[in-house]
Amino acid sequence: MSSRPLLAAAVLCLAPSLAVAELPRIVEQNGRHALLVDGEPYLLLGAQVNNSSNYPAALPEAWPAIEEIGANTIQVPIAWEQVEPVEGAFDFSFVDTLLEEARERDLRVVLLWFGAFKNTAPWYAPAWVKLDNDRFPRIVKEDGEPSYALTPLSPATLEADKRAFTALLRHLAATDPGHTVVMVQVENEPGTYGSVRDYSPGADKLFGRRPPAALLARLGATGETWEEAFAEDADEFFHAWAFASYIGELARAGREILNLPMYANAALRHPIDDQDPSTYASGGPTHNVLDIWKVAAPALDFLAPDIYMRGSREYRAVLDHYARPDNALFVAEVGSDGDYARFFFETLGKGAIGFSPFGIDYTGYSNYPLGAKTITPETLAPFASNYRLVSSFAGEWARLVLESRVWGAARPDDSSSRTLELGDWTAEIAFDQWQFGWADAEWLEQEKREPAENAGVLIAELEADTYLVTGRNARVTFRLPEVRRPERMLLVSVDEVVFRDGAWQAIRRWNGDQTDWGLNLTERDQVLRVRVATY
Ligand code: DGJ
Repeated sequence: MSSRPLLAAAVLCLAPSLAVAELPRIVEQNGRHALLVDGEPYLLLGAQVNNSSNYPAALPEAWPAIEEIGANTIQVPIAWEQVEPVEGAFDFSFVDTLLEEARERDLRVVLLWFGAFKNTAPWYAPAWVKLDNDRFPRIVKEDGEPSYALTPLSPATLEADKRAFTALLRHLAATDPGHTVVMVQVENEPGTYGSVRDYSPGADKLFGRRPPAALLARLGATGETWEEAFAEDADEFFHAWAFASYIGELARAGREILNLPMYANAALRHPIDDQDPSTYASGGPTHNVLDIWKVAAPALDFLAPDIYMRGSREYRAVLDHYARPDNALFVAEVGSDGDYARFFFETLGKGAIGFSPFGIDYTGYSNYPLGAKTITPETLAPFASNYRLVSSFAGEWARLVLESRVWGAARPDDSSSRTLELGDWTAEIAFDQWQFGWADAEWLEQEKREPAENAGVLIAELEADTYLVTGRNARVTFRLPEVRRPERMLLVSVDEVVFRDGAWQAIRRWNGDQTDWGLNLTERDQVLRVRVATY
């Protein structure tokens, strides 16, 4: 008897997540992006566990928090020191446990490779790396003193890090045919604090050479040395090139084994004010050096911001920097405090492939003042509320991001109104309104409405003059843009819809009080299909 039928039967018997599946990938269409999982657009509703939750013992305290927040994807570190404590001897047992437990919960996973650079430092590298300064040299600072950080210019460090990273990908290729792992982050917040670049004699020699032609062409620069080409930016650009080359090479080698989407995350520089590179993680993928990373690291799909800025102006400026036609937007980390939850709407409205609050587990650690003081069901509630709002149509939203047009707005710090230009129409977003009337109307005495912390709106174009509208604690009013003002507009229909069996189905029509004062979105999970016209 041929072994074929037996093999087919064996494949059919595998759990769905273990059957061979299409590789996840990032796609781009007209400058818009999607992460495809199982061949379909996937909105990554993420949650990242704390740094030291990368052991089987921590997982029982992670899963309930992940369930509470309603994430569909968990981001978990894999530390070099844990997989290669002894050089050349690999142990991927934690990866196996993690993936098995994630599959049981129907969750996808983003693995975070904590190699030679975790928040710029080598503390997650094995002892045989971090104690051997000769073989794995540290950066030399401008004053000649050694930095805490390893240099990205060391071929020995790159080779050792790459060997471990590719071993991880080889392990995944052998054990994760269903692609529970949908993306890999290569290193974590690379760059260097306290030294803009490596000033060792070897680095100085390279610094005196001509920068790579592709980089000069991309930045429209000329010069025979880095200094000639980039003047006062030369030190930082040189360091960014070194890091991007290092991480890009890890990604390239890893993808040769298993072609998963890969990205690097950034500890940000100030998105609006000028900032000296000696005061942030110089060389990391900060917004001012994204082009350098694009040229040096083509194997990375995108560069992702970690956002711990609570101001709405700053948050939006970060998104403006990272959402580019050549860079899919993924908020790889965001603070866990409730006042960050509203930014979910701003992020998705910018066409993001995903959003992921940081430090989501019940291990008792909190990174306040960056995030919440404690992680409890109560503090997770606003994030959970937003994930719940979109979870029934998350894939459909991701498809609209790729194929249509979407917008979003979070409540600004001062609760001022926002105007979204939809093209033929304008959507005015107001906050702190009661559902009836206007908060500043004098004809009716009323209490002032306290600002709702978690407030924002999502809009997507379904077809011409028809929009999907949802959100939390906000009022959406459609208007004609200034240029069309002699015309008059009306709401043809406002249907409350649910996404069922792959289509929007109306469950009731909104009219009267429910539409006379704009479309008022609350803590209820309500999605509207709005048709507008002129008369
Ligand atoms: C950003 C880093 O990427 C995280 O791993 C973590 O260290 C946070 N900062 C702070 O909690």
